Amino acid sequence: MKRLLLGLIIITSLQSTAQQSGDAKMKLYVDALMKKMTLDEKIGQLNLLTPGGGVATGAVVSKGVEEKIAKGQVGGLFGVIGEEKIRQAQELAVNNSRLKIPLLFGSDVIHGYKTTFPIPLGLSCSWDMPMIERSARLAATEATADGLNWAFSPMVDIARDPRWGRIAEGAGEDPYLGSQVAKAMVVGYQNGDLSKDNTLLACVKHFALYGAADGGRDYNTVDMSKVKMYNDYLPPYKAAVDAGVGSIMSSFNTIDNIPATGNRWLLTDLLRKQWGFKGMVVSDYTSVNEMIDHGLGDLQAVSALSLKAGLDMDMVGEGFLTTLKKSLGEGKVTQKEIDDACRRILEAKYKLGLFTDPFKYCNKERAAKEILSDEQKHAAREFATKSFVLLKNNQGTLPLKKSGTIALIGPLANNKANMLGTWAVSGNRDLSIPVFDGMKNAGIKEVNILYAKGANISDDTLFAKKVNVFGTRIDIDKRSALEMMDEAVAVAKQSDVIVAVVGEASEMSGESASRSSITIPQNQKKLLKELKKMGKPLVLVIMSGRPLDLNWEMENADALLFVYHGGQEVGNAIADVLYGDVNPSGKLTNSFPRNVGQIPVYYNHLKTGRPQATDKFEKFRSNYLDVENSPLIPFGYGLSYSSFSYSDIKLSAASLNTTGKIKATVTVTNTGNYDGEEVVQLYTRDMVGSIARPVQELKGFQKIMFKKGESKEVSFTIGVEDLGFYNSDLKFVTEPGEFKLFIGGNSKDVKETTFKLVK
Ligand code: BGC
Repeated sequence: MKRLLLGLIIITSLQSTAQQSGDAKMKLYVDALMKKMTLDEKIGQLNLLTPGGGVATGAVVSKGVEEKIAKGQVGGLFGVIGEEKIRQAQELAVNNSRLKIPLLFGSDVIHGYKTTFPIPLGLSCSWDMPMIERSARLAATEATADGLNWAFSPMVDIARDPRWGRIAEGAGEDPYLGSQVAKAMVVGYQNGDLSKDNTLLACVKHFALYGAADGGRDYNTVDMSKVKMYNDYLPPYKAAVDAGVGSIMSSFNTIDNIPATGNRWLLTDLLRKQWGFKGMVVSDYTSVNEMIDHGLGDLQAVSALSLKAGLDMDMVGEGFLTTLKKSLGEGKVTQKEIDDACRRILEAKYKLGLFTDPFKYCNKERAAKEILSDEQKHAAREFATKSFVLLKNNQGTLPLKKSGTIALIGPLANNKANMLGTWAVSGNRDLSIPVFDGMKNAGIKEVNILYAKGANISDDTLFAKKVNVFGTRIDIDKRSALEMMDEAVAVAKQSDVIVAVVGEASEMSGESASRSSITIPQNQKKLLKELKKMGKPLVLVIMSGRPLDLNWEMENADALLFVYHGGQEVGNAIADVLYGDVNPSGKLTNSFPRNVGQIPVYYNHLKTGRPQATDKFEKFRSNYLDVENSPLIPFGYGLSYSSFSYSDIKLSAASLNTTGKIKATVTVTNTGNYDGEEVVQLYTRDMVGSIARPVQELKGFQKIMFKKGESKEVSFTIGVEDLGFYNSDLKFVTEPGEFKLFIGGNSKDVKETTFKLVK
């Protein structure tokens, strides 16, 4: 054992010596290069442009890009897609610019690259960290085979407001789960070695707190106490930094009234000084310029403010390019500030190995072999099946019988335009498998599938126009609503079971896609009500980019499978699950509200001074007159075709001290008729603290496969660090006292015990 330990120490110290000598070499290289650089060339490195052609997410696209590259006025590009185009742009930089400094090539590789996986919120519902890591690894493999070296991902913004369309891009409401996902994604993209040709620079975003916009309206003000930031919203970004993320994107919102992009506390004091981040920070799309509209000054002032705050690279807006020289001349920024930013960008290029081979990611053979490969396709199908959450299944409605007639109805049942989900900028909609095709692909001879559209996604032409900015997602049929409905009813009449595929178009969530109502559109609901009247088993498959208000659906459906937007293989994956070839195992990573008025509703809220004793209204208690406090569906919830029972919790001791550990064990039994996976979740509650503490906090989970009838002991080890929190001085502390500990299959249905933390 001792020898093993000694071996480990030697390896670790060898690694850190290698790291040090690597760092020293990098410093020498960058020092020498920077000595040759003019001020203009240094400022040029801080400039990130998009020539358009990709999906521009702001009003501006860059002009004169080729000329600027040749003049050394560009540090990187994004929105340039394809090995060929990237090679051409890189050739311009290394053949035509004076110092031949290669460019960074970024892209929004968000849930897969060309092969599109489920949206991140869907992926998070798998609670399967090795799988999430693999999704990022596969995305990096494809993206680097196509010339890219930088992914604007992962987005780790905690989001507790389903009105906010970008909730689709994150991992939900919980800081612990969010941190695990952040780490898995960074490791998947970077794989611990940026010098390889199949890894790329990850970029954690949007730093910080972007998910907490007032009213769920995108780009709106964020205002939050530091205690809440540190305990609830910052942990996932910190986890990405700890996992070695190479770059960070600042967010559009304000923090303490100062936009994140120009916020020195955020970008320097917290990120670099407290967290020790050594990589580069890029702005979001024109977020430097947007500080003019925030009211912080003109372009020169806000550019200087951003550089001084610790921003290194200016995305699209060219405030750095056009004003920093003047600001230096006027003493408004220092040479050191420009040098530091330039150095960090050059270091990123060095770590990627671009100075050794600027074309290392431009490899036609790799592109042909690795993009849209069978491996990627199979993974897309597997990931989708694991991301689905079964919310209801009365009397074994699902899985479907493999015989009889199925009426497949709904605007999303046979629709290629909306399968990929938001932020699939490199995905190809034509490759997506709609549910109708997936069900047919299953090739079950005894099953007859009849299809009818039944309704439009929405009948509102103005709404459709807003959603259709990137192409038609809401296609308004030439037939009247009544004609479509009649057709659906006629089809349903002939069936044994109705499967209705309804929900949101892909661009009803994502950037600049906030909604103040989070039901499925009313015309679709009308269709469902009509189908319900027929008295046949009604299975709902709901696609969406956000948690929805599912009151009617939960009450009236016989079975409900919530699939978010499942990516290109979604139709096959839905067939796998509906027919029972795969047993669903996803669990929600957001609480689903009863109505919009309850928002934000999240499981790990603070204790109040007037808590409710039950979920019934009590005068002078913290509750509503017209709705319960609890969400409609709790965080962590999700059914399986099987069922699981939990024994009482056994603890290894009644207390732990500040150096000790405590082990909590339950026996989980698969009591149903199917093999299946269960996500066993551990929560704690700190009973007394120096500040008000949450009623419940996720502290661990394990996703485990159980054969039918199988029992397994599942243990969690809790250390003192798991019980800590940031106090009102923003110090991470652990305070002795009593704790509750809960274990269960979701945040509400849990077994409970107590233990003590003693000095
Ligand atoms: C988004 C970012 C994205 C960037 C580049 C912005 O509008 O907020 O998430 O990475 O555009 O496309």
